[in-house]
Amino acid sequence: MNLKGKVAIVTGGNSGIGMAIVLELAKQGANIVIDYVAHPEATEALEKQVRDLGDCAIGVKADVSQVSELQNLFATAVQEFGRVDIMVNNAGIETRTSILDTTEAQYEKVLAINLKSAFFGTQLAAQQMIKQGGGGRIINITSVHEDWPMPGNTAYCLSKGGMRMLTRTAGVELAPHNILVVGVGPGAVATPINLGTMNDPALLQKLNNAIPLGRMARPEEIASLVAFLAGDGASYMTATTIFADGGIMQSSPGL
Ligand code: BGC
Repeated sequence: MNLKGKVAIVTGGNSGIGMAIVLELAKQGANIVIDYVAHPEATEALEKQVRDLGDCAIGVKADVSQVSELQNLFATAVQEFGRVDIMVNNAGIETRTSILDTTEAQYEKVLAINLKSAFFGTQLAAQQMIKQGGGGRIINITSVHEDWPMPGNTAYCLSKGGMRMLTRTAGVELAPHNILVVGVGPGAVATPINLGTMNDPALLQKLNNAIPLGRMARPEEIASLVAFLAGDGASYMTATTIFADGGIMQSSPGL
């Protein structure tokens, strides 16, 4: 129980990697604020799973691309649990559209949900952590594509590239407060964001062939890394990204 008594916020927490992170942090003893935008029934089911693990969880509906909603998320977390020790900026989307025809609306949505939310999530978390004292952990779920081009997904890549520099710069700036900022860069993970690939046998085969480990990750394999980074064992890690990608980044372009 590495995280007993800690309070964590997980954005985009009721599906995919976010849901696995919620469950893993709860297994380690943390109380959790589950941010979500859709599927309240999934959030309720997850709250129950957390309670069954012996911890507390509340779901908060907040569109993290809006700063006012992020503020409300933090206010609710502090009201409910009194503090925030771990902030996981996980919410993310991709459009998989060519740079030739990505619309302004698509561009703005990807950048707002992926990058703006992480920027202001980091800001609000750091303000709260400084106020309460004792440091904290901010974990940004980026992607191999923070560094590695994915043709046909340029807006996504630049949002993740932005998160890379957010992690590095905020990590340096917040280090004197013992607030550690770390990125987790998954490769291809079996979550709803990849349903298009998973439902296309030929494309899935191509993807698996490109991954040295030969398969997509399970969300739990990313969540375990997040739990490690939130715990005592990662007390000297900041301003950097740890990749968990089955080796894909060393092989071929993003698929
Ligand atoms: C993207 C996936 C892609 C994977 C590997 C992820 O960040 O969301 O669409 O399959 O990277 O390229």
